Amino acid sequence: MSEASSQADHADLVSDIIAAHQEQPGALLPILHALQDAIGYVPGDTLPIIASGLNLSRAEVHGVVTFYHYFRSSPPGRHTIQICRAEACQAMGSRALEEHARRSLNVDFHQTTGDGEITLLPVYCLGNCACSPSVRVADRVFSHVDAERFDEIVKQLGNTAVEVK
Ligand code: FES
Repeated sequence: MSEASSQADHADLVSDIIAAHQEQPGALLPILHALQDAIGYVPGDTLPIIASGLNLSRAEVHGVVTFYHYFRSSPPGRHTIQICRAEACQAMGSRALEEHARRSLNVDFHQTTGDGEITLLPVYCLGNCACSPSVRVADRVFSHVDAERFDEIVKQLGNTAVEVK
């Protein structure tokens, strides 16, 4: 898909999303969530369209997008790895795991590896506290993840199905 057709697709998509939420009070956040759910991020070229649709300034929309780390301004990697940073996981060594993940992937949280494969994200409790530290890849939660297990997970992400036991 060319960049021009991609931008046209974004314009059509965001117009549909705006139309679906426009009458809702506080429509900006639901619109941004719907857009990111649909394509994985909030492209910069959609901000003026959203601003115009909601009668806001582009700066106001940009301010909200950048305030919430959840919203991405670039496409995510092929895989997303979430590391739990909440209390139970921290007590069981997730800080060391974070350091290892950052160093081994050469990215910080909210960044994507240079090959576009992996986006590293923080998360705050995966409901798996008894088996912490916890990591989620797609819909799968991994328990007792240390550096070695993390490397194993990353290695196996080359396959579409993650089969780490
Ligand atoms: S604190 Fe990490 S899973 Fe609950």
